[in-house]
Amino acid sequence: MDKKKILIQLDSDAQPSAFDRVVAIDAGADELFSYGHVLLDQIRGLVHGAIFTRKPSNLKSTAIFIGGSDVALGEKMLAEATKSLLPFLKVSVMLDSNGANTTAAAAVRVAGKHLPLKDAKALVLGGTGPVGQRVARLLALEGAGVCVGSRQVARAELVCREIAKRSPSAKLTPVATATADDVAAALAGQSIVVAAGAAGVVLLSKATRLAAKDLKIVIDLNAVPPLGIDGIDVMDKAAAKDGIIAYGAIGVGDLKMKLHRAAIAKLFERNDQILDAEEIYALSASL
Ligand SMILES: NC(=O)c1ccc[n+]([C@@H]2O[C@H](COP(=O)([O-])OP(=O)(O)OC[C@H]3O[C@@H](n4cnc5c(N)ncnc54)[C@H](OP(=O)(O)O)[C@@H]3O)[C@@H](O)[C@H]2O)c1
Repeated sequence: MDKKKILIQLDSDAQPSAFDRVVAIDAGADELFSYGHVLLDQIRGLVHGAIFTRKPSNLKSTAIFIGGSDVALGEKMLAEATKSLLPFLKVSVMLDSNGANTTAAAAVRVAGKHLPLKDAKALVLGGTGPVGQRVARLLALEGAGVCVGSRQVARAELVCREIAKRSPSAKLTPVATATADDVAAALAGQSIVVAAGAAGVVLLSKATRLAAKDLKIVIDLNAVPPLGIDGIDVMDKAAAKDGIIAYGAIGVGDLKMKLHRAAIAKLFERNDQILDAEEIYALSASL
């Protein structure tokens, strides 16, 4: 008989995310063990609790989800969890702190529906945040030339260097986007722009967007007014607008939600998977 599917939610925030808990149940977890305020030095014990309790053949029915609002800490938690697995005793683990992986994967997947990403030219505004970094990483993985935008170009350079460590052939350019003139210059020749700036911050004005003649797709991931791209509605989903295709945050959110559920369901297929940005992006191809 199949064992109950147990998802162990390790959340760095004091309250384990209600959002992640609802998705876990909707994705088919039978039992959800939610731990909040998880510290790095507690991960090993929690992982051992997961791997030492069931026969190896049943371990695919136990999985770990790492969440919380601090994505950098989530990455450390994932590294610690991975290190705590044993060669013959493993459970699958997924990282989606602050929804960063599922959101970035969904954004890049919707862009790829409208034009080939290989050799496309893309600008990621707010490219230094957890979501923007992943958008840049995934666009580069697909062979796009990616400009990573930041108000401080040194921060964008750092992100480009980190991505290049993973993918040495990635075509990445750090660009300054501190002023409207900077943004206009950065947009020259770009066919895709993804706005992944902080909630409630406008990164691209309508006038600058309309002046960017090569632009074909704009995606705004900020759902908190004022939105990241002036004139793009939060609900836009492949909306034809001013000669371009537009997505707002909720327009991308539909795929993001499907992807989140599919990734949780996938965790229970095998006991040896680590689902980070690239794996979650790959999964989105089947949705
Ligand atoms: N739809 C969804 O399901 C979903 C899920 C998760 C996140 N999101 C949204 O995705 C976006 C990105 O999330 P995140 O967590 O990566 O964002 P974040 O870390 O808060 O901000 C991203 C970047 O925005 C820039 N920024 C911050 N304040 C700014 C300001 N006042 N003016 C201009 N730029 C500013 C910063 O880059 P520099 O300092 O380098 O310029 C920062 O690295 C957010 O809008 C978030 O709400 C959506």
